[in-house]
Amino acid sequence: MIARAAAILRAGGLVAFPTETVYGLGADATNAEAVTRIFAVKGRPLGHPLIVHIGDVSQLDVWAGSVPVSARALAEEFWPGPLTVIVERGRQVVDAVTGGHPTVGLRVPDHPMALELLREFAGAIAAPSANRFGRVSPTSADHVRSDLGDEVDFVLDGGPCAVGVESTIIDCTSDVAMILRHGAVTADEIAAVIGYRPADVGGPSRAPGMMVSHYAPDCRVVLADSHASAAEVALGLPVAEVLDPGPDVAAFAHDLYRLLRDADRRGVATLVVVLAPEVGIGVAVNERLRKAAGGV
Ligand code: TXA
Ligand code: MG
Repeated sequence: MIARAAAILRAGGLVAFPTETVYGLGADATNAEAVTRIFAVKGRPLGHPLIVHIGDVSQLDVWAGSVPVSARALAEEFWPGPLTVIVERGRQVVDAVTGGHPTVGLRVPDHPMALELLREFAGAIAAPSANRFGRVSPTSADHVRSDLGDEVDFVLDGGPCAVGVESTIIDCTSDVAMILRHGAVTADEIAAVIGYRPADVGGPSRAPGMMVSHYAPDCRVVLADSHASAAEVALGLPVAEVLDPGPDVAAFAHDLYRLLRDADRRGVATLVVVLAPEVGIGVAVNERLRKAAGGV
């Protein structure tokens, strides 16, 4: 199965594969034509850069033009894992991947199937999340199939993703490292490695390709501060349901995109979602929820 997926990548095809965060829609990162097809299949505007997935930390120097101390320390600490590091791009990174930007996002995914695929392919895989543009990311192979159907050449099924929300993105190209998107690797964990708290520019419209409408299900998402106020809001609305992270926010992150998809499938008109405490993975969860709610 892995051998077949690697052969498809070599031939310029598209392979959806599991990572610990969400499923990716992968192509050979050196094949501009294959990479361009990713944009067509997703309906993603060109110019929104893709993350390049590599097999191990030693590949950082191969795909980066230069590697700041902070980027190297973070890669060594957190890879394989849910952290994407933005660095100056290396020469073999094609324009189609970066959208012409001078930087590239790199990460080593922490999933046995992804790592096996990278080993077998012996290259780098450019991959966004394997969903249609602006929609909720897929956290199972079934989500990928229902989003992309025949337009993906092969889907590797690695079961449900362990983390459930996309990787933390940290831009290491300036003097002060900046978080562009929150994920399972937290600002505190990053601070412990680089020696200072990274600037926080997470949130809508900051990184290219990050906009308010991202992660949006069909149903309306309304946010609430507590279960009681959520229940009250839901009472006054037709076909409304309450979604509450409860005490285990990591488990909620794991389930979140499936729950949003399920709500759509069941015809829920409005989901009233209780925000998570703003700590740990709760920061990443709330960032997604605010985007799903349209930035309000
Ligand atoms: O967990 C993840 O990161 C998943 C899995 C598949 O690895 N990938 C993912 O890719 O979420 P995508 O394309 O859906 O989101 C990547 C985000 C985009 O918003 C893009 O704008 C940003 O990363 N990005 C990529 N390269 C960048 C760069 N050079 N500078 C700034 N932002 C960048
Ligand atoms: Mg995405």
